[in-house]
Amino acid sequence: GPVMCVVGARPNFMKMAPILRALATHQPPLPALLVHTGQHYDQGMSHQLFDDLGLPRPDLNLEVGSGSHAVQTAEVMKRFEPALDAHQPSCVLVVGDVNSTLACTLVAVKKSVPVVHVEAGLRSWDRKMPEEINRVLTDQVADRLYTTERSALDNLLREGIDEARVCFAGNVMIDSLVANKPKARPAAETLQAHGFDPSLVRQAGGYGVVTLHRPSNVDDADTLRALLSVLGEVAAQLPLVFALHPRTRNNIERFGLAGLIDTQRTALLPPQGYLEMLGLMRDATLVLTDSGGLQEETTALGVPCLTLRENTERPITAEQGTNTLVGRDRNAILAGAAEILRGDGKRGRVPEFWDGHAADRIAADLHRWLLAGAP
Ligand code: UD1
Repeated sequence: GPVMCVVGARPNFMKMAPILRALATHQPPLPALLVHTGQHYDQGMSHQLFDDLGLPRPDLNLEVGSGSHAVQTAEVMKRFEPALDAHQPSCVLVVGDVNSTLACTLVAVKKSVPVVHVEAGLRSWDRKMPEEINRVLTDQVADRLYTTERSALDNLLREGIDEARVCFAGNVMIDSLVANKPKARPAAETLQAHGFDPSLVRQAGGYGVVTLHRPSNVDDADTLRALLSVLGEVAAQLPLVFALHPRTRNNIERFGLAGLIDTQRTALLPPQGYLEMLGLMRDATLVLTDSGGLQEETTALGVPCLTLRENTERPITAEQGTNTLVGRDRNAILAGAAEILRGDGKRGRVPEFWDGHAADRIAADLHRWLLAGAP
């Protein structure tokens, strides 16, 4: 049967695109089937990214949409089960740590269909993070685990996972970055397309990119208020481009915080396409974010990144890359930004196997593993 590849939410798409390509170009080709759970469904959160990344139309769309964690996870499970029965795949391949990842893993493993997890072993050690629960549980029952950095193996061993199940393949998200960097849309074009005068950014000698969407940062009014006011202080020194996740946009409205954003110094944009975001990051002086993907992408691009979280499940970005954890502490954020603006930002290097070929290594290993009879 085919490799049944699952995507659900925005950060899955840039990981799956290179995997599908590598399965198709492997000799012999490995047949694949693409399932979109529909966890993300907007033009900006989903469809645009399929186009940018050259992802094929999903063979199946489960159209689960939004809901509480329980509802969303349960709905994916209910709808994925008949799909699995109908297609009899050789294995189910999941990526990352979103609710769709865990939901499809649970369905497959209980039907004795082998599960392959790409981006295994990352740990924030923060179980209040929904993604941490998804990561721990998926890894515990997956049959083949591909890691992006060496520390992930130590995490898995500590949880009793057999080393023979683990393969260090590198970072597929960076495969997408390497493949698409030449096509990145220049930041000036993106700003202009949204009605902002790009000369503002040029006169200021640069700009910062901001993204925020973690529930721990944006679901509580006081926390979000404090973060927006620090961002305002940064914006007074360096214009900001803030790409608003729907969760964040909704909460700014709901809590009545829009007035905290100085729109003279902050360009508010809707969720951006992949090529737009890549261009915005590449051309930026600094990035402020709570996203996992952006921590990795800025490290690959060599752009200084301040992560507005207390922890990271991607420690290599801070140890070797350009990432600095600043949490939500006003002084740490302002000091980090000041350092970068002085030209003293972190330089860093690109980690091992973040080289554009991770998906090829996965396809080769998967082929061997399936031939050998999987688990
Ligand atoms: C999900 C992932 C998170 C990932 C993030 C990237 C989980 C637990 N979380 O969080 O790990 O970093 O995606 O975006 O799986 N919404 C829309 N349009 C959409 C999708 C969502 O407007 O296409 C709005 C809805 O109001 C929804 C809210 O965004 O309730 C949150 O969406 P959801 O999928 O629950 O989680 P994310 O915060 O996007």
